[in-house]
Parts: sequence; structure tokens; C-alpha cells
Amino acid sequence: MTWYMNVAQFATDPFGAKRPRDQEGENGAVSYDGEPMNGHSAYPLDGASSQLGLPSFARQDSHLSAPAWAPSAADRIYQAFDVSQPVDQPQDLRGRAKQVARLLSGVIHRRNHGIVSGPRGSGKTSLVRVFGQYADREGIVVLYAACDGGTTFGELLRGYLEQIPPSSVDPDEVELFDQRVLSFGLESSPHQATSIFAQIKYSQVVIVLDEFDRVFDPVLQAKVASLLKLISDARLPVRFVLVGGNNAFLDVVREHPSLMRHVTRVSTAPLAREAVFELLDSCADRCGMQFSAAGRELLDEVACGSPYHARLFGMHAALAALRGGDIEISQQAVAEGLYESFEEWSSLNGEDSATFHAICSGARGDPAPFVELAGRIATATDDEQLVDRPAPDPQAVEAAFGSAIDRSAEPIAFRDATAPQYLIALHHLSRLSSREQKGTVRA
Ligand SMILES: Nc1ncnc2c1ncn2[C@@H]1O[C@H](COP(=O)(O)OP(=O)(O)O)[C@@H](O)[C@H]1O
Ligand SMILES: [Mg+2]
Repeated sequence: MTWYMNVAQFATDPFGAKRPRDQEGENGAVSYDGEPMNGHSAYPLDGASSQLGLPSFARQDSHLSAPAWAPSAADRIYQAFDVSQPVDQPQDLRGRAKQVARLLSGVIHRRNHGIVSGPRGSGKTSLVRVFGQYADREGIVVLYAACDGGTTFGELLRGYLEQIPPSSVDPDEVELFDQRVLSFGLESSPHQATSIFAQIKYSQVVIVLDEFDRVFDPVLQAKVASLLKLISDARLPVRFVLVGGNNAFLDVVREHPSLMRHVTRVSTAPLAREAVFELLDSCADRCGMQFSAAGRELLDEVACGSPYHARLFGMHAALAALRGGDIEISQQAVAEGLYESFEEWSSLNGEDSATFHAICSGARGDPAPFVELAGRIATATDDEQLVDRPAPDPQAVEAAFGSAIDRSAEPIAFRDATAPQYLIALHHLSRLSSREQKGTVRA
């Protein structure tokens, strides 16, 4: 049985007749064929697989049975694809030139507040970091922090007020300014914050509130909205940039609809195909590798424009190529990378993973409409109403997805915002395997 055929089985019949526990090898690992493995597989059966009783998809090729890579080469791949850090250098930010320019002209030149919204992993923090670099070059004081769910208005603002450099304030007023900041506390109001900001004379200050969607407290949301309005009305040299999920905008303007006039809104919509290609090529280039055209296309299709997924899937694909001793990351390496990524995600999300297996196996009807729905959710921007577009009937969606979909969300959303790409990955793996059986797979 070939690797692709194994994948076909993985996608359609994860709990097939030959369960691992039926035929264990010496280390407990069993190949899909039921053959005990020699313990040197490039894909040892990991915790997630064994917990779920999934078969292993270790490549059976003998030349892969021993690790063929030096740790430093793998390290270079981890660093090159770095999925854990936002981008902060302008040259590394792909496909966002328009959004950066809009935020700069809105916040710096038109003196609006900014709102940056988009799903998790779409590059919001990266976008504001790069915006911050440009603003800094213009001599603007940029203060950045991430919000925390339990913060109060006083705590949130105090942290920023303390960072305002004394040089921004009239020298005769520095003492008063310091006193006001010191006495700013838990109970302080938006009016008090405004009177402190009113002392800023010699700098433009931009305050970035990242992860604003972690603030659920309506009182805090209302106070921030009032503060933004007071600052705009008083034409102070201070602007806020709020960063959060797709509802960040609504949460703020709900309080003061007139704020609309003072806000520049930018959303991190899915990256265009060319930007995903550039991102993948630059990561591969950094570790001395390159994607084949077919490999890159497959990654682009599955990532749905999400830079997080493109980097993560790309990293696993590069590692797979390295294990095979290749510098080129072929379509097969990408498929292996998707499999590895899915396994890694399964270990944290067993329930949704089992649901996706059931969908791809056809156990819940034709998988195509569900996979298509996942693609639409993954690429939805906050202006689009998914519910308005044709979709599988809601009862069928509920029966297929169960708790993987958050039924209370409007529009429809996955409970784990990163999940749709994993369903698409699994579906691709099964389609690739059937193409492979017909002998039409490209490198
Ligand atoms: N435009 C981009 N070009 C290249 N990589 C990006 C881009 N936007 C985000 N990334 C990468 O994607 C991942 C998620 O980005 P991040 O800014 O943390 O997203 P968010 O704040 O929306 O959750 C990070 O690894 C980051 O380096
Ligand atoms: Mg972020």
C-alpha cells in the first residue's frame, strides 16, 4: 500500500477494521497494514494518533526509516517559517501594502482612531506592528499592549499613561502630569483620562490595544468608546488603534454611532494567492529550500489566505521534504506536511478531528458542501453575511458538524477559529490519494 493510499484510508476510515490495538508492534506502533513497525519510523505513532486509535501513516520506504536530517537543518526550517511570532519588519509583511497605507493615512494624517479586525491568525498583530514601525519613523510615540480579559479601565489606561514620555508635555506641567498619572486608578473615568491626554503638547501619541476582543466586559467597552469620542471631540494629539476579531468594530461603535466619522477601519481579509506564494517562497528561501509549483498551489488552496496556516502547513511540508533528503518541497511533501499538521491539531482537538474524519469519510453525506462551507467561513470578511449565501441546510450542518460549529455565533463560525483549514486539508488528502491511484499527481 502506498503512502497516498494510506492517506485515503486515513481520511475516510480512521477507525477501520485493522485497529492499532488489534495488532501492536513491540513499541505499540502499528502501520496501517497491520505490520508492526521497527520503531525507527519517520512518523512514529504519536500521542494523538494512539489516543484516537488512528492508524499510523509512517512512510514505509526503507531509506526514510532513520532520521536523515541534521537538527540544525530542522531548526532553520522552524525559524524560517516561524509561526509563533508576528511579523514586525515591513519587508516580511506580504500582501498588506494597501491596509498599512490606509491605516497610516487614516490614523496619522487624518487623525482618526483605527480599528483592525479579522480572524485569529489572519495577521492583525503583524499589520499593527509594521504600522507602528512606520509611525515611529514619523516621530510618533507608539504605545503597544495586549488586552487581558479581566482588566479594568483604570488598569488598562494606567499602563499606557505611565509610558508617555515627559518630553511630550510642557516642562512647566510635567509635575502636574505625573501627579495625575499617579492618582489615576481603578475608579478613574474616561473624562479623567482625557484631561491627562490633554496635557500632551509636543508629541503625537498612538495607543494600540491589541486583542481587544478579549474584553467582554460591556462596561469597559463602553468606557473605551467614550474615551475615543472625548479624544476626537477635543482634537487631542492622541489616537487609539483597537485590534480584535470581526466584532471589534461593532463592539465600539454600538456605544457611540457618531464615532464612525472618526474611525478608519482596516480588515485583514484573506491574503491574495500571489501574497501567499511570496510568503511561502520567502520562508523556503530563508532555509535554503524551494516549493514546487504544485506544492505551492496545494498549500495556497488549503490555507485559504490565512498566513498562519500557510506558515504552519509550509513548515511541516518543508520538514517532510527534509526527511526525504529533498531541497524541493514537492506536492507529496506538502501532503505529508498537511497530514502532520492535522495530527498535531488533533492532539489538541480530538473531538473536532473525529468529526472531520466522519465528514470526509462520507458518513455524514456528500462531504463537498460541508468542505465548501468551511472554505467560505475561512475566507469570510466581516462585511459578508455568510447566512445570506446558499449553504447546506442548517439541520444538515448541525448533524454533520455537531459541536465543532458554534451555533450561537452569528454569522456561523467554527468553535475553534483555526479549524476550517484542517477540514479542507483532510479533504484534500483524500482527493489527492484518489488522484494518485489514477496516476495524475504532479510533483
Ligand atoms: N502579511 C503577512 N505576511 C507574512 N506573514 C504573516 C503576515 N501576516 C501574518 N503573518 C504570520 O502569520 C502568523 C499569525 O500572524 P498574527 O499577526 O499573529 O495574526 P493575528 O494577530 O491576526 O492572530 C504569524 O506567524 C505571522 O508571522
Ligand atoms: Mg494577534
